[in-house]
Amino acid sequence: MKNILVTGASGFIGSNYLNHILDERDDYNIINLDKLTYAGNLENLKQSENKKNYHFVKGDICNGELVDYLFQKFNIKYVINFAAESHVDRSILGSKVFYETNVIGTNVLLETARRREVEKFLQVSTDEVYGSLGTEGLFTEETPISPNSPYSSSKAAADMMVQAFHHTYGMPVVTTRCSNNYGPFQFPEKLIPLVILNSLSGKKLPVYGDGMNVRDWIYVIDHNKAIDLVFEKGRVGEVYNIGASNEMPNIQIIKLILQYLKKSEDLIEYVKDRPGHDRRYAIDSSKIQNELGWKPEFSFEQAIEHTIEWYLENKQWWQRIISGDYLKYYNLQYNKR
Ligand code: NAD
Ligand code: DAU
Repeated sequence: MKNILVTGASGFIGSNYLNHILDERDDYNIINLDKLTYAGNLENLKQSENKKNYHFVKGDICNGELVDYLFQKFNIKYVINFAAESHVDRSILGSKVFYETNVIGTNVLLETARRREVEKFLQVSTDEVYGSLGTEGLFTEETPISPNSPYSSSKAAADMMVQAFHHTYGMPVVTTRCSNNYGPFQFPEKLIPLVILNSLSGKKLPVYGDGMNVRDWIYVIDHNKAIDLVFEKGRVGEVYNIGASNEMPNIQIIKLILQYLKKSEDLIEYVKDRPGHDRRYAIDSSKIQNELGWKPEFSFEQAIEHTIEWYLENKQWWQRIISGDYLKYYNLQYNKR
């Protein structure tokens, strides 16, 4: 049995990871440590919450005493760190909590993991640490780190700390850097769910700048399968880029969603650009493909349809986010235990 501390698994990517992995792996015993910020939603994990190999702890990765207690209590030998403040626009409005969670929180986890002699520490990072591309080229693992937003600079600081712990103490770390994810349970502040929900309720769709900023989209299940592979087989000290070679300007995605939902393009509203807006991201994932045999399984056409359908079928899930009721789920499920 592998005792794994998975942090931030009540958010978008982590909850998809758990819902998938708990079915696949009965040799994983997972402790989800999540602070339940606005982005943490226990309703994402309804299908997993009663599994015997799953435990939830509400808490902050910055809390060293709690983290150490959990390592001891559950004999933690593995860590997968998803926990982060993840939204670029929020980091522009106020950066402090980004450095607290993404930098200090990662430091607390690393220090505890070092003392407790973990066997693998996987840092879930992002392609945004590489900064912005022009019209040519792709991010490889050798691309220099050059972050542009408070969010990406906090993730870059964490990545460098992870590498330093490997270099200095020989800690068995691996880092993944993935491109933009989409899929079920994504909080409706991010582009794709925001466009789906606003279109459904006839609200304007804010397009930053000229709408020609390019992102490289990957279905969340493909990302999570890559994470599991890197966790099991990735070489320590290495970084693995993850992406599905699916570059698209924002305006093209927005129009595609409108078309699928049979809504009018009149909903599109060009607004002031995001300050420091990165122009283009594009990932070269040949390292993970050649070394570990990973490749994306879902085409964009197939997975975006599935995602839109999921939001159509799960109105209650997002309505409870909009009303704020999702924040009460913890009290209902856990405080009474
Ligand atoms: P999210 O914002 O949906 O979820 C973050 C989770 O972390 C939430 O459950 C939140 O409650 C929890 N959390 C925040 N601060 C915490 C703290 N101090 N202690 C414990 N838990 C805390 O984020 P996401 O989109 O699921 O991203 C997960 C990870 O993947 C992040 O590290 C992000 O940088 C990275 N990433 C995201 C994308 C993407 O497209 N969304 C792409 C590449 C990498
Ligand atoms: O590349 C990986 C990153 O992708 C992750 O590390 C981040 O956690 C994740 O939030 C995401 O960052 P982006 O800033 O690329 O995602 P977002 O959905 O916020 O925006 C996608 C693009 O759409 C970006 O160019 C900004 C634009 N946009 C976004 C919103 C919310 C708009 O034009 N209008 C909007 O309302």
